[in-house]
Amino acid sequence: MKEWNSFDKIIKGKGMWLINSKGNKMLDGVASMWCNVWGHSNPELIRAITNQSKKLQHSSMFNLTNEPAERLAENLVNISPGMHKVFFSDNGSTAMEIAIKLAVQYWKNIGEKKKIKIATIENGYHGDTFGAMSVGYVPEFFGKFKEQLFSTIQFPVPNKYRIPSGFTFSDYQNYCIEKIEKKFSKNNNIAAFIMESGAQVAGGVIIYPKGFQRKISQLCKKYDVLFVLDEIATGLGRLGSMIQYEEQKSTPDIVAYGKMLTGGYLTMAVTMTNKKIYDSYLGEFNDCKHLFHGHTYTGNPIAAAVANENLKMYKTKSLIKKIQKTSKVFEKFYQEISEIDIVGDIRHKGMLMGIELVTNRKKKTPIHPKKSINKIFFEEGKKQGIYLRTLGNIVMLVPPLAISEKELNLLLNGVIRTIKAARSKVI
Ligand SMILES: Cc1ncc(COP(=O)(O)O)c(C=O)c1O
Repeated sequence: MKEWNSFDKIIKGKGMWLINSKGNKMLDGVASMWCNVWGHSNPELIRAITNQSKKLQHSSMFNLTNEPAERLAENLVNISPGMHKVFFSDNGSTAMEIAIKLAVQYWKNIGEKKKIKIATIENGYHGDTFGAMSVGYVPEFFGKFKEQLFSTIQFPVPNKYRIPSGFTFSDYQNYCIEKIEKKFSKNNNIAAFIMESGAQVAGGVIIYPKGFQRKISQLCKKYDVLFVLDEIATGLGRLGSMIQYEEQKSTPDIVAYGKMLTGGYLTMAVTMTNKKIYDSYLGEFNDCKHLFHGHTYTGNPIAAAVANENLKMYKTKSLIKKIQKTSKVFEKFYQEISEIDIVGDIRHKGMLMGIELVTNRKKKTPIHPKKSINKIFFEEGKKQGIYLRTLGNIVMLVPPLAISEKELNLLLNGVIRTIKAARSKVI
């Protein structure tokens, strides 16, 4: 905060562009925190919000329901193979808190008292609340709260760029999987395995190698551990498929979506479960098998209405096909980006790219300037007319999903100019 004297005041959004109070435009390279789908001020989404807000703005989901939320639940079950029911909440962190609670209580509901531990992957990220911090522990973000977090069993992730010495990439993947199997086979107290689906995003854009997620899901089945996926950042098109777990052939017991669900216009997230989990919550009232959890804005009808419109547009506008085509633009730039001497690695899938910056390519030393890298890149990006954010030493490109090829070219050219301009300030 001390470094920032003032902030740009965004007063308008139009298509892929954000416009500040001085009338300057910035291309939204962050999809307004990875959630924007169609760009800003989309008329169809605005209409959905306006129409619903004339009828019912909010009513509780305690004892009641509402039409847009019911329809959304049905839509989500239809697109999510294996999923049976939807629990609404209003942000991704909360959706993950619910996932943890659902998984832990499931075992209690069926009378299995020993299964209480949660297994996770190192460097995963699931949000900023205490449960989410416990299962998604990124040391730089959450180190100050370590004593307050509950303990988890953490397993390594195969990051191709940083394989421990003595391993090939393939050996290391086997090592990671064997470690999980070893633990599972010796411990029958593990309630659930929780991981991001397809890739770790906030933890550094670590895209899982083919088969990694599937093998974990198979181990979970074999050893009777619930498999819980976080698709908040990676589902609904970000990695180039509607449902990432389908692409990974790894059906979970519980999955969470957020971010893109409402097209990035209103705050809503969901936690979905299969029938097995749902049924365990049914019982006589005094059995107390129900989940004691609910938020004020759960199932908000305006958010649900815009989510329904958003999901409809995915279909009518063949968004996933469009993403698969547009995302090839990233590939055209691999060569040019990798020629910049502070670029150590480029990781890309679908509409997500991470560019890892290092001071020494051979030693892979992460850049670590005195000032925040984020601020340096934000300011240099702004000069190029783009809104950019870095996470640690990684430049993140996370554009709105429906960005045009022309605008994506603009973004990538701007990013290259930004890295070159920032170079002398960060090393
Ligand atoms: C994978 C993942 N899970 C959960 C969250 C938390 O979502 P929210 O910021 O809506 O609480 C995020 C946010 O970036 C995320 O990337």
